[in-house]
Amino acid sequence: MKNFYITTPIYYVNAKPHLGHAYTTIVADSLSRFHKTLGDNTMFLTGTDEHGDKIVKAAEKQGVSPKEFVDGISGLFQQLWPHLGIENDAFVRTTDEDHKARVQRFLQQVYDAGDIYFGEFGGHYCYGCERFYTEKELENGLCPQHLTKPEFISEKNYFFRMSKYLPWLREYIESHPDFIRPERYRNEVLSMLESGALEDLCISRPKSRLTWGIELPFDKDYVCYVWFDALLNYISALGYLNDKYDDFDRYWPADVHMVAKDIMRFHAIIWPAMLMALDLPLPKHLAVHGWITFNGQKMSKSIGNVVDPLVLGERYGADAIRYHILREMALGADSSFSNEIMINRINADLANDLGNLVSRTVAMAEKYFGGTLPECREADEELDASLIDPALELRDKVATYMDQTQLNNALAEIFKVISRANKYIDETTPWILGKDESRKARLASVLYNLLEVIRITTTLLSCFMPTSMPKAWAQIGATENLITYENAAKFGVLPANVTVHKGDALFPRIDTDKEIDELNALIKAQMEKAIAAQQPKAEVPGV
Ligand code: ME8
Ligand code: MG
Repeated sequence: MKNFYITTPIYYVNAKPHLGHAYTTIVADSLSRFHKTLGDNTMFLTGTDEHGDKIVKAAEKQGVSPKEFVDGISGLFQQLWPHLGIENDAFVRTTDEDHKARVQRFLQQVYDAGDIYFGEFGGHYCYGCERFYTEKELENGLCPQHLTKPEFISEKNYFFRMSKYLPWLREYIESHPDFIRPERYRNEVLSMLESGALEDLCISRPKSRLTWGIELPFDKDYVCYVWFDALLNYISALGYLNDKYDDFDRYWPADVHMVAKDIMRFHAIIWPAMLMALDLPLPKHLAVHGWITFNGQKMSKSIGNVVDPLVLGERYGADAIRYHILREMALGADSSFSNEIMINRINADLANDLGNLVSRTVAMAEKYFGGTLPECREADEELDASLIDPALELRDKVATYMDQTQLNNALAEIFKVISRANKYIDETTPWILGKDESRKARLASVLYNLLEVIRITTTLLSCFMPTSMPKAWAQIGATENLITYENAAKFGVLPANVTVHKGDALFPRIDTDKEIDELNALIKAQMEKAIAAQQPKAEVPGV
């Protein structure tokens, strides 16, 4: 059996989860579910990143201890995921004792191998990014991401001999064109490596400045740099450097690390160098996606322009939200969030195209045949093939796009077949066939073909929309044993005398005028609250 290991970043617990975190997690969940339907032995890991200055500052602001604070927010992430149909196999917290112990063993091992040394260092430190910037990297003296003035800090620290591994890494990326996708990010990483600007990495913080971290096993006056600790989650969660680590042997190297471009550098340079220091293979793919933006800016907790995925999920259903954001985002590119586009898309694709296809087909089977198709058939070969052939080719097209982490394209292919099926109804005019007793066999063929196309498309859609597709299967009379990946490339799977069962609309139509205004007001109120919690002085963006 093939193994498949996919991860999301472990999210900082300095503020509540928003739609950006949901996006990465939904992509990873859809891929994980897809591999589960393939029959792969699949491991989907997500979690929370809980050390560092950012967390201490956020806890102080609320007047609670860091530990109380991280337990609360990590809990919010863990509670959110099931509401969005997310089924992770494991959840890692960097404050877990297991994780801490494994990070310490890792540090000791790299230290013993001579790849960690002690030295003096001065740099411009951005608390938002949790990293030092060199003079050259600043823009007008400000952090390019947060547009805030970093603090100049000079102190003695421990360093990871990262530069030693960079020529090797560059060669690796050149000879593995598919390691970083899409291409533009691979090129960005290559030019960072070629610029020669990368230095050894400062991996410690003196306890005089920060105590909320993992203590260095070889110097109790220091804690580990939060990113060094965080990146190790991908192997610590598998039990690496534990006494017994079956999961590690099974799942490493990871198949896909999903990340957004803000943290590409950490995953494309620092993490591979750390793995090289451990003499471990690199992950197969780093899939880098763009940002969900709102009013032209990255949706982010430090700006406060955040949309709560729970609110959207409660209003429109988790599957509709999943569908919208997966369809909207092309891997690598940014995508601006708009209520209006979301609601229109849910209505057009889900309520109209897919929902109506199912409800019309089922309603006609009930109207003309009392719900159970007769076994007589009459084909119109050319016309039927124009529906059936694309449906039979669909599974492999979807698989190819899933392999390339292009979920929006996989969905687009599925919806092409759904559109084709709606057009097939117009072309075959079942309502005319239904009036003519001598055309019953033709009508039975038309409806059977439609039911089969619904079975194929909804089987392939179920990794993206796991809650609503079983409702479609119940309506078209597809028993669970017929819903398999193998059957998604076959025609004639439903019994010839299949019985349908009319049910509720899969995706109720949203009242556009009413909802857009209401949702805009709701989101605006939430953003005001988020901004008040983060940056009292910032302005509320107009919605
Ligand atoms: O960076 N659009 O945590 P983080 C799309 N703890 N994705 C977004 C997004 C947006 N507007 N905002 C956030 C950290 N994300 C570290 C990671 S990993 C070893 C440590 C998603 O809470 C996206 O996946 O800032 C991004 O990379 C991640 O959240 C950053 O989460
Ligand atoms: Mg961030």
